[in-house]
Amino acid sequence: MGAAFVDNAHPVTPPLLITIDGPAGAGKTTVSRLLAEKLEYRYLDTGALYRSVAYSILITGIDYEDAEALTAHLKEFDLTARTEKDGFRLLWKDRDITDQIRTPEISMMASIVSAKPAVRAFLLDMQREMGKDKALVCEGRDMGTVIFPEADIKFFLDADPHVRAGRRYKEMPPKTGVTLEDISRDMLQRDQNDSRRALSPLKPADDAIRIDCTHIDPQAVVRQMLGCIVIMLKARNQMADG
Ligand code: DC
Repeated sequence: MGAAFVDNAHPVTPPLLITIDGPAGAGKTTVSRLLAEKLEYRYLDTGALYRSVAYSILITGIDYEDAEALTAHLKEFDLTARTEKDGFRLLWKDRDITDQIRTPEISMMASIVSAKPAVRAFLLDMQREMGKDKALVCEGRDMGTVIFPEADIKFFLDADPHVRAGRRYKEMPPKTGVTLEDISRDMLQRDQNDSRRALSPLKPADDAIRIDCTHIDPQAVVRQMLGCIVIMLKARNQMADG
């Protein structure tokens, strides 16, 4: 069955798997949520999964440089990811940790431990399982390259590093003592960690559509994405019709 169109902005289609990759602060979370909402799809924030692993490592104090200790920790690591009306919730040992994983310390630890093969292997199945029924918008660093190379449409979202740091700064709760300079420095460090690591580095998939959102707001980015989805579906239909 081919895709049908209600109007240009709301494609009605067999469920799609949509990936959004990009560096920290590019606006992936806001855009992914908005897009998922528009399409009535589920939304998967894979950065939050890496953050949860980082949080558990910090709390338990295990030595993440010790591959055996890390593997044993992950074997017992009991994480549940839930998509709810107000967003994406994460439970570790039945405790909701969603709001505790957004600190600068966890951001940096997530970037460090995400380079570990055991961590990436542990989260791989969980992510693929969540994508198997499609109707999903997922965001991260390697969604289009490694986790879902067969995704229906892939986006790579980027923005000027100063703008990205400024956005992250505005999201910080008041009175943390964290400065814009701190955020800027940590973000550049994470960009380097994430794009230079050997395993699943941050990079656009060859077939990803790149969107620079330095000067455009999330709503405009989502409009562009919906436009791309419509074009992709039309091309797919034309090919199916011969
Ligand atoms: O998207 P985020 O800032 O919440 O991600 C936190 C860290 O997790 C990021 O610095 C690198 C890692 N990460 C990853 O390696 N692969 C993903 N698909 C998502 C995040």
